[in-house]
Amino acid sequence: MLVLGIETSCDETGVALYHSERGLLGHALYSQIAVHSEYGGVVPELASRDHVRKLLPLIRQVLDEAGCQREEIDGIAYTSGPGLVGALMVGACVGRSLAYAWGIPAVGVHHMEGHLLAPMLEEKSPAFPFVALLVSGGHTQLVDVAGIGEYTLLGESLDDAAGEAFDKAAKMLDLDYPGGPHIAHLAEQGDPTRFRFPRPMTDRPGLDFSFSGLKTYTLNTVAEHRGDDVLPDDQTMADIACAFQEAVVDTLSIKCRRALEQTGHKTLVIAGGVSANTRLREKLEQSLAKVGGKVFYARHEFCTDNGAMIAYAGCQRLLAGQNEGLSVNPRPRWPLDELGAIGG
Ligand code: KG4
Ligand code: ZN
Repeated sequence: MLVLGIETSCDETGVALYHSERGLLGHALYSQIAVHSEYGGVVPELASRDHVRKLLPLIRQVLDEAGCQREEIDGIAYTSGPGLVGALMVGACVGRSLAYAWGIPAVGVHHMEGHLLAPMLEEKSPAFPFVALLVSGGHTQLVDVAGIGEYTLLGESLDDAAGEAFDKAAKMLDLDYPGGPHIAHLAEQGDPTRFRFPRPMTDRPGLDFSFSGLKTYTLNTVAEHRGDDVLPDDQTMADIACAFQEAVVDTLSIKCRRALEQTGHKTLVIAGGVSANTRLREKLEQSLAKVGGKVFYARHEFCTDNGAMIAYAGCQRLLAGQNEGLSVNPRPRWPLDELGAIGG
């Protein structure tokens, strides 16, 4: 089965072609970072308008590059939530309309299920059951995954998501949006012993997270070391980035170990934008090796938003016979554990 995947939930337009036997045949991503950068975050209306401009040309480009004809496509998968309602609406309307015009089924995919299954696109892919750490700009969740669509929430952030915390800390250091990769880059020059930031909620039982206190701690540290209208010196900035990243990574890693102990699973999957973080991958690999556990993740470009993960997740649901009606129902809020097992 050949599936066209469409992702438009936030500020990236992603398109991909996934074949159930031949794997990924093509994918392309258009990032709106330049559109939003001067605002320091995503402006929803600008995002929707840009998806309108970019989506159809990107679909044409992916079909051409893969040497595929539209008649070969057996189904369409589009992100139907969670995300920005206007942005979701663009992908859903285009996806549903093309499927209607071409006489093929269409399915709305949960964005976080897309992230969660993205490591399945890799040669070294995980087997069920496993614990998934979903860490993106909008979510920080630990999920017990029994199979596709069989998700039990183990814990989540009570306030900011991990990616959001990276973005806010980056803003304090006058780094560009999205801040995660910039903090990670700056942290490479930092001295990890100079500052020790708190590891929130690790001293009490449970699998929930909280990153807002860490944000305030970062803000206070920056304030202590800055002069009037001038940022701290370069080394101090790098030391702060490093201390912040260590605190987030350590906190995530402690909770992942705990989730594996609690469920008895040996496999951890990390997914979402923050799973691209090299220090997080390193730390989890070290920490899990001690308990005979293994960590899986997608290649960098499939950690952040992309069309391939939506094509893959949609393909599994279309293969199971799922086919949505003609109405388009984007869900800006959509708890992951409301999804059903495929075929169920
Ligand atoms: O999954 P994603 O592309 O979009 C959402 O679904 O939210 O995640 C974006 C988030 C941003 O907050 C970004 O700063 C963060 O992922 N991110 C990173 C890294 N790359 C992206 N955070 C830390 N380290 C990175 N290397
Ligand atoms: Zn995402």
